[in-house]
Amino acid sequence: MARFTLPRDLYHGKGSLEALKGLKGKKAMICVGGSAMRKFGFLDKAKAYLEEAGMEVEIFEGIEPDPSVETVMKGADAMLKFEPDWIVAMGGGSPIDAAKAMWIKYEYPETTFEDMCKVFGIPELRKKAHFYAIPSTSGTATEVTAFSIITDYSKGIKYPIADFEITPDVAIVDPELAETMPKKLVAHTGMDAMTHAVEAYVSTLNCDYTDPLALHAIKMIQNDLVDSYNGDMEKRASMHNAQCLAGMAFTNALLGIVHSMAHKTGAAFESYGAHIIHGAANAMYLPKVIAFNAKDATAKKRYGQIADFMGLGGANDDEKVALLIKYLRKMNDELNIPHCIKNYGADSYPTEQGFVPEEVFLEKLPEIAANAILDACTGSNPRQPSQEEMEKLFKCCYYDTEVDF
Ligand SMILES: NC(=O)c1ccc[n+]([C@@H]2O[C@H](COP(=O)([O-])OP(=O)(O)OC[C@H]3O[C@@H](n4cnc5c(N)ncnc54)[C@H](O)[C@@H]3O)[C@@H](O)[C@H]2O)c1
Ligand SMILES: [Zn+2]
Repeated sequence: MARFTLPRDLYHGKGSLEALKGLKGKKAMICVGGSAMRKFGFLDKAKAYLEEAGMEVEIFEGIEPDPSVETVMKGADAMLKFEPDWIVAMGGGSPIDAAKAMWIKYEYPETTFEDMCKVFGIPELRKKAHFYAIPSTSGTATEVTAFSIITDYSKGIKYPIADFEITPDVAIVDPELAETMPKKLVAHTGMDAMTHAVEAYVSTLNCDYTDPLALHAIKMIQNDLVDSYNGDMEKRASMHNAQCLAGMAFTNALLGIVHSMAHKTGAAFESYGAHIIHGAANAMYLPKVIAFNAKDATAKKRYGQIADFMGLGGANDDEKVALLIKYLRKMNDELNIPHCIKNYGADSYPTEQGFVPEEVFLEKLPEIAANAILDACTGSNPRQPSQEEMEKLFKCCYYDTEVDF
């Protein structure tokens, strides 16, 4: 038996933030990040709509990018004091993810962070509050997913919380919120969405319900991401929908080793001065992982179907896979994303010598590869890599060399 779960309602289109006016309840707590939502006026708008609906509103502000366990606990305390019956999370993936975890702790105050991390082990929620999610970036799709990613900074590791219980009740996908994104954020979150759709399509858990969502998202991202990056706001709006469709696919079909590898390298070289941003890591690793996975016959066929759907040509599956890889690399060029870790600058742009020194990479390689194999996303990847293969794959992602194994 398989399960397919999405929010009960989804409002979309320009101005759909207004749907908040129709909310029925007594108290809403709005959870937001640093300042973008306040600065661009969306926080005031949301508050006014909720008050128009007759709700008492409190704001929990200042959720940082890549939110910490401490922030989650602080937010849950604020919820326990205010006792909202609606949690309204708005902003990028970070504040929405943090609010999901706060929600668990609010409903079950004795729950520890370790309890939350037991995959599909969250007790029944919605005894105290329901959850509204309003994304302002076009990538994570956390507004429709069963996931929340929280960082335990004492261990330097990102932990996924995964359970359909934390799939939001309602999502608003209003493209106006995405219009203020800086270019770099558009590029990174957009390639994150492309990776979600491609990985969901070739995942071993793909099914008739997730395939159309993944394929349509891929086609839209192919058509719209680069133009959105270059400032076309109609395409920006389309990308906001596309990333959400990709999310609907991957929350049900799960992901693959591009994400396993991105999760374990994001913060691994932090002491050398930078993060490898999630979407940029995905964009660099995706073409390499496609070449690796395509050695599996079923995966090769499905990559061929993606290439056909994108209209890339090719006389057989080998040619189609090669054309798909070539196309994705061209997108990276157009979005100013490097092809490999060696050329990944501290500002995320391509550079001759990036911020991760070769000897440091090689020293950390066995551990990073082992951690990537253990990542929750590896299980649904079409080809299970050995330690040796994962290390070789990472080397290809460092030097931008061909995957021939
Ligand atoms: N839950 C999931 O299913 C899922 C999936 C993928 C990634 N993630 C997680 O999501 C987080 C990343 O989320 P993200 O990429 O959305 O970024 P983010 O939420 O971390 O935000 C990044 C920066 O962009 C700013 N910002 C957000 N929206 C803006 C806007 N409209 N205009 C101007 N600035 C804006 C924020 O203030 C912040 O400084 C990571 O922690 C990642 O691990 C979660
Ligand atoms: Zn992702």
